[in-house]
Amino acid sequence: MPTGGKLTIETANAYLDALYAAANADVVEGQYVMIAVTDTGEGMSRDTIDKAFDPFFTTKPDGRGTGLGLSQVHGFLKQSGGHVKIYSGLGEGTTVKLYLPRFRGQDEDEAWQAPMTIPGSVANESILVVEDDERVRATTVALIKELGYHVLEADSALAALRIVDSETTIDLMFTDVVMPDMNGRKLANAVQERRPNLPILFTTGYTRNAIVHNGILDPGVELLIKPFTLETLSGKLRELLARARTMR
Ligand SMILES: Nc1ncnc2c1ncn2[C@@H]1O[C@H](COP(=O)(O)OP(=O)(O)OP(=O)(O)O)[C@@H](O)[C@H]1O
Ligand SMILES: [Mg+2]
Repeated sequence: MPTGGKLTIETANAYLDALYAAANADVVEGQYVMIAVTDTGEGMSRDTIDKAFDPFFTTKPDGRGTGLGLSQVHGFLKQSGGHVKIYSGLGEGTTVKLYLPRFRGQDEDEAWQAPMTIPGSVANESILVVEDDERVRATTVALIKELGYHVLEADSALAALRIVDSETTIDLMFTDVVMPDMNGRKLANAVQERRPNLPILFTTGYTRNAIVHNGILDPGVELLIKPFTLETLSGKLRELLARARTMR
């Protein structure tokens, strides 16, 4: 827009249908988010549109344009599974439409409504749940039971140690990090002296950065950030129990 003009940026959800996909080789039919950038500038001829995405193609005078602007846009969208389209005519201004695949993942509520569909429930393995907050402990215990595990519960690190000191079978300890009296890390250290091969999964409502950078836990520990979904919890439990089985 050499003499000024108006630039409009819009966003919308968009559905690219089979017809559009058939006409555009790089497009997979489906749901996208669209960002449209429209100017009231000089516009492009059909010929220029056809070459505009080519690397180093430019109509600007020597030393002005690199011809890399649109080819970078094109490359970025391709890498992202997206698509870009130019609408323009000489003297008519230009609209460039960028399409990115829309995230269509399950939201948390759906995951919580269907606990029984989670595969790989394992019976007979015992999980020790250590959590000082009574309500959080109750939900966690219910969830883990629903996954088919046997659950032992402790409302403090000291209560957990009493269970660990007994002959009770424990296959994994799932512990809160921040607890009064003795925190999850100190508990883990004490437990490792008694049962060195017991897998330990920590959980916290703090962020991983806050917990690790402040030295509360070592980087690399198994940590589930609250609120976790039943899916991530069950996946993590299965993963750690499977790893422990192979190390036995
Ligand atoms: N909004 C637009 N209006 C009119 N023509 C455009 C527009 N955007 C791009 N073009 C045309 O497409 C060509 C290629 O664009 P591209 O952004 O890739 O390179 P460039 O603008 O020449 O160089 P630079 O890398 O500095 O942006 C431009 O030279 C121009 O002819
Ligand atoms: Mg450019």
